[in-house]
Amino acid sequence: MDSSRLLILFSVSILLGLLAPAVAQVNDAVCTYTDDICRRCSYIGTYEDGGAYQKNLNTLLSSFSSNNQTNSGFYNSSMGQEPDKVNAIALCRGDVSLNDCHTCVNQSSSILFTYCSNQDEAIVWGVFCMVRYSSKLIFGTQEDEPSEYVPSPFNAIDPEEFDLVLNLFLDTLTEKAASGDSLKKFAAGHVIIQGSTTTQPIYALVQCTPDLGKQNCSDCLKGAISKIPECCGGKQGGRVLKASCNLRFDTNLFYNFTADSLVTLPGMVKLNGCLHYN
Ligand SMILES: *[C@@H]1O[C@H](CO)[C@@H](O)[C@H](O)[C@H]1NC(C)=O
Ligand SMILES: *[C@@H]1O[C@H](CO)[C@@H](O)[C@H](O)[C@H]1NC(C)=O
Ligand SMILES: *[C@@H]1O[C@H](CO)[C@@H](O)[C@H](O)[C@H]1NC(C)=O
Ligand SMILES: *[C@@H]1O[C@H](CO)[C@@H](O)[C@H](O)[C@H]1NC(C)=O
Ligand SMILES: *[C@@H]1O[C@H](CO)[C@@H](O)[C@H](O)[C@H]1NC(C)=O
Repeated sequence: MDSSRLLILFSVSILLGLLAPAVAQVNDAVCTYTDDICRRCSYIGTYEDGGAYQKNLNTLLSSFSSNNQTNSGFYNSSMGQEPDKVNAIALCRGDVSLNDCHTCVNQSSSILFTYCSNQDEAIVWGVFCMVRYSSKLIFGTQEDEPSEYVPSPFNAIDPEEFDLVLNLFLDTLTEKAASGDSLKKFAAGHVIIQGSTTTQPIYALVQCTPDLGKQNCSDCLKGAISKIPECCGGKQGGRVLKASCNLRFDTNLFYNFTADSLVTLPGMVKLNGCLHYN
């Protein structure tokens, strides 16, 4: 390599080094498997401290975590007048109690104010709930972005068989969740993989914001399922988080056992103790 090319390479590295913090900020997603909480600020615009947008946002999010009128775990409303109108959605995981739901929405709101302060749009996914707000209309529409992946650090025992069963399983749960009503689109359950040498359960949970129509919910979850290889291929667990829907799976029971049931998969037959697929 001659010296001029070296110089260019050197300059480019410096430039990238300088740009890196800015890029990281614009794509400010923070998310780890052990932290359990992911957040993303959108940077579509900003609001002022003490301004009407901030007040509307605070009132709206507080009203969600103190709302005893509904126990569906879903909140969607707007507050204020243009240009300071805020639209927000909070969705609690389908199996959590109202109290845990409110605690999660309250804590998630604080995270949004702390880490996405002054941003016109942001989202946070906790273990028990998701909270998002925007200056744009967000109700009844399927949003694929932003999305985040949280893979388990642990590998599946037989990744090929695991992924095959997982896909079929999540398709079945998706159908069930999408058929839910306008207050809840949620499904959870488990299947048991009976391989020739191992027996292993997979627990999974899928959920859409119930303001989505059946088709949009199904499309959103199918999109999330299609990201599993990218997110968590070969892993024994993971979460795919989208603005309008999310899914989670693991070999351990991670949701309330009262929401659990054994799911029968179509197109699967057992021959000589092994699973086969039609
Ligand atoms: C969270 O709860 C605390 C204590 O009840 C309350 O002061 C605060 O306003 C709540 N914040 C939001 C955004 O709900
Ligand atoms: C809502 O319920 C919680 C506990 O379940 C209670 O502390 C709170 O006062 C109730 N809020 C209203 C407005 O009734
Ligand atoms: C589905 O979502 C799209 C946006 O992604 C929206 O334009 C459309 O109205 C929704 N369809 C239904 C039937 O709710
Ligand atoms: C909130 O969602 C429900 C259905 O899930 C819908 O009936 C209602 O109109 C929505 N509210 C807003 C403000 O979009
Ligand atoms: C599990 O669900 C049951 C019934 O829905 C509820 O009474 C219980 O509080 C839940 N347990 C936890 C840990 O959330």
